[in-house]
Amino acid sequence: MNHPVDLGKGAESDTPPPGALSEDARRQSETARAALTALRGEVAKTVVGQDSVVTGLVIALLCRGHVLLEGVPGTAKTLLIKTLSRALDLDFKRVQFTPDLMPGDVTGSLIYDNRTSEFEFREGPVFTNLLLADEINRTPPKTQASLLEAMEERQVSVEGSARALPDPFVVCATQNPIEYEGTYPLPEAQLDRFLVKLTVPVPTRDEEIAMLQRHAAGFDPRDLSEVQPVAGAAELAAGRAAVRAVHLDQLVAAYVVDLCRATRQSPSLQLGVSPRGATALLATSRAWAWLSGRDYVTPDDVKALARPTLRHRVQLRPEAELEGATADGVLEGILSHVPAPR
Ligand SMILES: Nc1ncnc2c1ncn2[C@@H]1O[C@H](COP(=O)(O)OP(=O)(O)O)[C@@H](O)[C@H]1O
Ligand SMILES: [Mg+2]
Repeated sequence: MNHPVDLGKGAESDTPPPGALSEDARRQSETARAALTALRGEVAKTVVGQDSVVTGLVIALLCRGHVLLEGVPGTAKTLLIKTLSRALDLDFKRVQFTPDLMPGDVTGSLIYDNRTSEFEFREGPVFTNLLLADEINRTPPKTQASLLEAMEERQVSVEGSARALPDPFVVCATQNPIEYEGTYPLPEAQLDRFLVKLTVPVPTRDEEIAMLQRHAAGFDPRDLSEVQPVAGAAELAAGRAAVRAVHLDQLVAAYVVDLCRATRQSPSLQLGVSPRGATALLATSRAWAWLSGRDYVTPDDVKALARPTLRHRVQLRPEAELEGATADGVLEGILSHVPAPR
């Protein structure tokens, strides 16, 4: 049942499916996969553990998607993104979202130049590859909207002219799960624009001990000179091309849809996953299939990516929330009930 079926053409046609890779592209795909897999080891030079967060970030980069990072302060979110950008040889910027941050502080603004008597555009921090948007909930909606617009359109409009953002451009926005007072939660329609929501756990006891030992041995989180670029924009582009060629069986596509439909019918949810969410789950599952060394998506790929891709796209009913339900819990129930193709 898992044999790849090309959805565009009849499966019985002799010509290779349009997504099939040439010998050359196959080699590039292998090289890119090896480089992106080596990232894990490079990031591990500074960050202990957090493997699934690193994988989630690589998947987001492959899908050109943005990331919500949820975790309490001090769990190495900043260190992780900084290390990753260095290991990928990508430009990195960080913005602390404060209550008084203005849209222009994010996107850039026109500055009057006295010498030329002209206005000149000074690029804001969104003009980067990896943007760490720290504590996005602390800034009022108008500034959030300027970032979300840049995320969606991959450009910034100033006085009617559009300026393209670099490629790749991926935003990692952090949220503190326990701090809701005096914050501005992102509206549901905006949450849908993040490809995945990754939760950054507190390290295990052993991981925390390993971290302390590194610090005792002289590790300085401000000095990342040991981290080498092991992949870059070229590998990401090759990876992206290879992901586009990953086959999707019609039954697996139906499984993605059935999972999303089940969220719309769940009595615990007042808002289910949108069709946009279904496309997101397909994209992340495909990227994960490729990273795992396959050229077809399995139901297990879909299961593995369902929680990170869907958890921020559903909304609990207040009653369910009061009873202690969580988005992950509801999704887990749905995953165990919706029959998967074999
Ligand atoms: N898993 C970890 N591995 C290595 N260092 C860690 C880890 N978790 C926390 N730390 C240490 O805690 C510091 C704070 O991390 P930081 O990246 O500023 O956290 P956050 O951005 O999540 O608030 C790091 O610089 C590092 O020294
Ligand atoms: Mg931080």
